[in-house]
Amino acid sequence: MKTRATATLRGEALIDDPARNSTKRRLTPWMIGVGIVTFLAGLLFGYDQGVISGALPLLREALDLSTFEGEVITSWVTLGALFGALVAGGTADKIGRRWTAVAAGVLFAAGALIETVSPGAGLLTVGRVVTGLGVGFASVVAPLYAAEMAPKRLRGRFVSTYQLAITVGIFLAYLADDALTSSDRWRLMFGLAVIPGVALVIGFLVMPESARWLLKVGRRDDAKASLVKVDGPGVADAELATLKADSDAEAREGEASWGEVFSPTLRRALWVGVGLAILQQVTGINAIIYYANEIFAKAGFTTAEEQAKATLYAVGAVNVLATFFAVAWVDRFGRRPLLLSGLVGMGVSLAAVGISFAALANEPAGTTSTTVGGIVTVISLVVFIASFAFSMGPIVWTLISEIYPNRVRGRAISVATAVNWLAAFLVAQFFLSIVDAIGESTTFFLLAALCVVSLVFVWRLVPETKGRSLEEIQKRWVLGGDKMIEEEEDRTTLISDTPVRADV
Ligand code: BGC
Repeated sequence: MKTRATATLRGEALIDDPARNSTKRRLTPWMIGVGIVTFLAGLLFGYDQGVISGALPLLREALDLSTFEGEVITSWVTLGALFGALVAGGTADKIGRRWTAVAAGVLFAAGALIETVSPGAGLLTVGRVVTGLGVGFASVVAPLYAAEMAPKRLRGRFVSTYQLAITVGIFLAYLADDALTSSDRWRLMFGLAVIPGVALVIGFLVMPESARWLLKVGRRDDAKASLVKVDGPGVADAELATLKADSDAEAREGEASWGEVFSPTLRRALWVGVGLAILQQVTGINAIIYYANEIFAKAGFTTAEEQAKATLYAVGAVNVLATFFAVAWVDRFGRRPLLLSGLVGMGVSLAAVGISFAALANEPAGTTSTTVGGIVTVISLVVFIASFAFSMGPIVWTLISEIYPNRVRGRAISVATAVNWLAAFLVAQFFLSIVDAIGESTTFFLLAALCVVSLVFVWRLVPETKGRSLEEIQKRWVLGGDKMIEEEEDRTTLISDTPVRADV
């Protein structure tokens, strides 16, 4: 498991590096190309996340699927992504970022093709796993490539482009679902995914390899050629010198052992990252993204077209819009306020869906309550998605990339990412069965209760990292956590307050 570089670079977006700034890298057309391929990778990830919502009800009918088969077809893409993400770090180090991204596109397109032509649930599941492998590869290599190629001052924005592209991909998938539902074309829904897959392959074949990686494997001349292409000859020399110094320093430092990742000093940080990764999933986001149509069906949207429309706007569009706000707000308001307020919104809205389903269950058949329940459900899910998209969605990933010391960051992040995929898999796999076993209403109350657990977790354990350098954040963990530092800060504040009081 070697996703070290990804993580390091995600984190590096926050390190102050005056030497790097002085090279004055500009936004060249090739740099925009980097943005485009990164966006494509996120798009493909998102498309795949979203498409199943519209395809599933049609598949159920066409292939006569049981609940379990429906869950397998939905969730095994996540299982593929889990394994894809685990091996992609090592692959990206061995064969390079570019070829790993090409492999992601090939796997994704191949998986989509298998899904499109599959005669039954068996081959469809194989297609989903292959697609998932592509998604897993893309999820590691795209942010890594973006972070390595982007100029320092734009690095954070390039990486968040990827997050935004995921939500746009989900939206486009819902759009395809909506357009194709009436004609019952689930095969075409899957088939359309071949397009971003092929576009990713072509995009990465055209783009140059990352100079950082080329230096790491000793290909200095190729590294220089890549920099000349992307930055122009004027800036390339200075940039090459900076990268060389970084790469030598990294080589001297060596890689941390797995023992260090699990050492008592870092245990709290590790748990916070892993805890956030789990809580991001078990509060239900992907259950709603994957099963949105089914949820709307149960809330009274009777036709597949109505369900697809509700999903398209209430989930897809709101997710994209609220993610824009997150990108704008995360450095202004800080991580904790956004997380805490987002979790309140998520918990309240999930409880409202629970209440609405409970009310529906008590109503005699034939009343208009189905429509009222439907409206309450749509409004609540809008609030839920918006609350998630400005809090637990992007900020969990930001925090995970900030709270670990440089040496262990890669490995610690790969643990958190793998756990996140695993939790996503378990939710997707068992959500419908849980609904069948305990009913919609109780399921949504359970999700709401998990938001309360998350709220307590964030309140008590998650540090505020806004405006702090990575080194400062690391010191907090090594010194024994926030509490101690906060006490120290309180004391300092009191001391600086004292003369003012004395004056009065
Ligand atoms: C999560 C994904 C989810 C997406 C929805 C991401 O932060 O990790 O699992 O599908 O947000 O926008």
